[in-house]
Amino acid sequence: GAPVEVNISKIEPGQLIRVEWRGKPVWVVRRTQEILDGLPAIDGQLRDPDSVEPQQPAYAQNTVRSIKAEFFIAVGLCTHLGCSPTYLPDTFGEQVEGVASGFFCPCHGSKFDMAGRVFQGVPAPLNLVIPPHQYLDDSTVLIG
Ligand code: FES
Repeated sequence: GAPVEVNISKIEPGQLIRVEWRGKPVWVVRRTQEILDGLPAIDGQLRDPDSVEPQQPAYAQNTVRSIKAEFFIAVGLCTHLGCSPTYLPDTFGEQVEGVASGFFCPCHGSKFDMAGRVFQGVPAPLNLVIPPHQYLDDSTVLIG
């Protein structure tokens, strides 16, 4: 499939937009500083907090899992059996102690934080997949 160009200039803080790449949903989420500041605090609850597993590009093998910390770009499919997790921008804290927001897979209950990092004790074995991408300019990202 062809690479997909996405204009990210109009995404509001906290907003998630969906695009399609190679028949898969890809999410682009604009993260606030508050969200980014909260990521390291939950490292101890995660399976691969530093994203060292090799399913992601080198630039995602870190805590924020992105090229620009503000924008999180991931394939929106659960790494268990491929269901589409739900974005919970505000209510995740009610389900996972100390986590303000993240992604919840309704199929078998896997949970991912705002960097797509999988929690311990859920069926999904790996963090969400980061698709290959690059920035063409400040407002345009090329996925694929
Ligand atoms: Fe997401 Fe099973 S497919 S938890």
